[in-house]
Amino acid sequence: MIKLGVLISGSGTNLQAIIDAIADNRLDASIELVVSSRPDAYGIKRARDVGIPTIALSKEVYREPLAADRLIVQEMKQAGPGRHGVDYVVMAGYMRMVRQPLLEAFPNRIINIHPALLPAFIGAHGIADAFAYGVKITGVTVHFANENYDRGPIIAQRTMEIAEEDNLESLEQRIHDLEHVLYPEVLQLFAEGRVVLSPDRKVQIR
Ligand code: GAR
Repeated sequence: MIKLGVLISGSGTNLQAIIDAIADNRLDASIELVVSSRPDAYGIKRARDVGIPTIALSKEVYREPLAADRLIVQEMKQAGPGRHGVDYVVMAGYMRMVRQPLLEAFPNRIINIHPALLPAFIGAHGIADAFAYGVKITGVTVHFANENYDRGPIIAQRTMEIAEEDNLESLEQRIHDLEHVLYPEVLQLFAEGRVVLSPDRKVQIR
């Protein structure tokens, strides 16, 4: 069983997929804390509905990004049963960069999901950028967060063809559906201790 802290900024459908996977015994984990970078994020309600402690940070807090990260570290380290802190920090639609305080507090323990095949289409609009570019294949990436935005070691990827009849809306839906399957599966690999990061930054699943 691994203890997770989840970072969100928006609707929280990936958070919901993780909550559901835990409830269905597909994921041997617990969510000890959800931190939102936006007080109006719908994901906060999803967490509260199932009794997960939440913290919402305002824009003002992020005026000092390092101080915001220090605050998140403090909360993540004090979360959970016995207050021993979380094992992994899971970014689920978190639209802020994680910086040195978080990266140092959770080395190779911060995981992100991105709605495109990294290293293509980094940034906040991966699905729309891939669609606008006209690629025929896109997908979803789960990777370790590090000091290079969207450039950390890749843990898992799933591909999907963009059909001629796809529009942005249908593509978004299909990417989200894929994310909701892949993210819990990858987190379960962590729960089973099967994810190994080598010194050459390649990730192996044992
Ligand atoms: C997801 O598609 C996630 O991959 C993306 O934001 C969405 C959040 O949806 N993240 C990024 O683009 C990070 N660069 P959700 O709040 O419903 O989980």
